[in-house]
Amino acid sequence: MIFWILLLFILTSSFSGSFVVNVTQSSYQAEENHNITLEWTFTTNTQRSSNVFHTLCRLFTDVRVSVLFHIHEGVEVPESQDEQFAGRVQWDKDVLREGRLRLHVSRLRTADSGLYLCDMRTRDGKKSGQCHLNVTAERDRPKHEKRVLGQGTDSSQTESRAQPESLGWFVLYCVLGLKAAVLVLLTLDLYIVKKISTRQNQTNSIQNEAELLSL
Ligand SMILES: *[C@@H]1O[C@H](CO)[C@@H](O)[C@H](O)[C@H]1NC(C)=O
Ligand SMILES: *[C@@H]1O[C@H](CO)[C@@H](O)[C@H](O)[C@H]1NC(C)=O
Repeated sequence: MIFWILLLFILTSSFSGSFVVNVTQSSYQAEENHNITLEWTFTTNTQRSSNVFHTLCRLFTDVRVSVLFHIHEGVEVPESQDEQFAGRVQWDKDVLREGRLRLHVSRLRTADSGLYLCDMRTRDGKKSGQCHLNVTAERDRPKHEKRVLGQGTDSSQTESRAQPESLGWFVLYCVLGLKAAVLVLLTLDLYIVKKISTRQNQTNSIQNEAELLSL
């Protein structure tokens, strides 16, 4: 008797061993009010029509367990779905035949964070696949973004402020340079005038001396 049970156990386990459930991503990170697509893949048997299909996807958190999605014998059972996910879950019917369970969850809430576990059962076996979802609060990110944006606008403001400032400096330098040039020219002029006048004085004095001598 025990032998038969063991044989049955080995046979069923090796049988269901050919049936695999995978997740395309084991961990998801999303922001509140955004949408996400959770995907499970499972072994399909092309020889057999696997229309007898069961799946139950549930969210496990520290405080509760809620049903995200339920298919019974290939038919969706919306009544099973938890109020939390009402009207927020869409699925791709056409890819289910290819062995893909694709669930689009919209308007994410922080309460959607947790472990998502899908139990799948076809004629080929029964397995489950799980993934984690972490939904961060909207106020956590925008605050950071705002800070970054604020820094950005600040720097742009200082940049825009810096431009007229530098223009002012440029004008100031120009004025100063012109003043310096004028000063140099003036001193040169003065120097020349002085030189000429001293020369004239000299010639005058020589003339005066000559006049004196002639007298
Ligand atoms: C599951 O993942 C394994 C390892 O990555 C891969 O070999 C197998 O084909 C996958 N099966 C399905 C049904 O996605
Ligand atoms: C969720 O994401 C936030 C922000 O990246 C991180 O700080 C936190 O540790 C994550 N929580 C879990 C359970 O992974």
